[in-house]
Amino acid sequence: MRPPVKFLSSDHATVPVQALRAEELEDVLDTLPSAQAAWLRATGFTGAIGDRQLISDDAGRLVRVFAGLGTPEQRRRKRFGLAEAVQGLPAGGYHLETTLEGADLDEAALALLLAGYRFDRYRATGEDLPRFTAPAGVDRARIEAIATGEALTRDLINTPANDMGPQELAEAAIALAQTHGARVAVTEGEALLEKNLPLIHTVGRAARRAPRLIDLRWGATGPKLTLVGKGVIFDTGGLNLKPGASMALMKKDMGGAATVLGLAHMIMALEMDVQLRVLIPAVENAVAGDAFRPGDILHSRKGLTVEINNTDAEGRLVLADALALADEENPDHIVSFATLTGAARVAVGPDIAPFFSTDETLATTLAQAAGEVADPVWRLPFHDAYEAMIEPGIADLDNAPKGGFAGAITAALFLRRFVEAAPYTHFDVYGWQPSPSPARPKGGVGQGARALLQALPKALDL
Ligand code: BES
Ligand code: MN
Ligand code: ZN
Repeated sequence: MRPPVKFLSSDHATVPVQALRAEELEDVLDTLPSAQAAWLRATGFTGAIGDRQLISDDAGRLVRVFAGLGTPEQRRRKRFGLAEAVQGLPAGGYHLETTLEGADLDEAALALLLAGYRFDRYRATGEDLPRFTAPAGVDRARIEAIATGEALTRDLINTPANDMGPQELAEAAIALAQTHGARVAVTEGEALLEKNLPLIHTVGRAARRAPRLIDLRWGATGPKLTLVGKGVIFDTGGLNLKPGASMALMKKDMGGAATVLGLAHMIMALEMDVQLRVLIPAVENAVAGDAFRPGDILHSRKGLTVEINNTDAEGRLVLADALALADEENPDHIVSFATLTGAARVAVGPDIAPFFSTDETLATTLAQAAGEVADPVWRLPFHDAYEAMIEPGIADLDNAPKGGFAGAITAALFLRRFVEAAPYTHFDVYGWQPSPSPARPKGGVGQGARALLQALPKALDL
């Protein structure tokens, strides 16, 4: 388990960072010592997102920082804007002074922690970063649990496939379980066949590193919540090999697994009253003589047969067996996260996590929660009329419908076939921040987890 991401303890002497919205600036200037107000005016500080000005005393000591939170328009366009203003502050201890409150204050507090996220596993020297005490009025433990879970998700995605195989992913789950007193069972290699998880075995069998199913359980009371995460540690496409440009980022194809582990950390650290189960099919979609082939017809755990029309549509195969297993104990809700389709990216781009849900209450709650916690999601439909597109003829299901219509929806419909008993929600995430944004450096990123965390109490009646 990675070290927790924490606020500085408040017994340190810290420098105030006064964070203000652009529309507050004139009022604030009136209250400041005249030299400070003159300095902010002279340097062109407007309170725009990313604006920052340092104030020294006569001895040249840093005594105050002004940070811009932007205009209302800027804040609509950019979340976690405070992270931009504090990025690059001199190393040392700071505390926040602001009129923000409620959800806005929570977002700012999380921005302060995530602004300190670095993926430094492969760097010889670390950076000394500014650190903040917990802002007054925030639930410190909650923000820290969320930041730590998010950092775990990012670390797992950012770690390249040579160091993040099925085994390492299982080890990450075991380390997380040890932190929280959870239990993990791992089914590996040929044992997947004995336990009737044939699709996980088939997709993973061409790789040197054996496929696995990771099964984590925590909590003894409350509703049963099962999270399922796609753990394709690298997706070459298999025999339907991806071209180089499409393969380049495929270390992130375990982004769903990384997201559910990060979310599991949040749930367990906050001791939510749920019986949590996390299922991760962890496989490498590789090329070798025993790889599965286009045209193969495979038997799934549930009994449905699947005609393979593209070995690059592997995620829905490994998820199918995991979902069928999840469904067998009739949980109160199943949620899957998966970097499942390029079509989802085309539809909504990298910043929004599209989701599908059979549960109206959860869908509505989630959309609202997403706004509260600055974790954008958008609902797409399980459109029944497209079911015919995933039915090829000689098998029950087709893993890669021709025509290229509605790729994210047909993938979601495929998954839904394996869930009968439980209400079901599926996120088709990108899991990657393509260009640096506030609190999100380029690289792995969690999507949808914070929104779901926020929605759970209402959605599951906790
Ligand atoms: N992991 C990919 C989907 C993906 C690609 C997610 C790029 C994010 C960025 C998935 O396994 C895949 O290859 N899906 C195919 C399915 C198709 C063959 C039906 C796709 O989306 O092209
Ligand atoms: Mn693929
Ligand atoms: Zn994939």
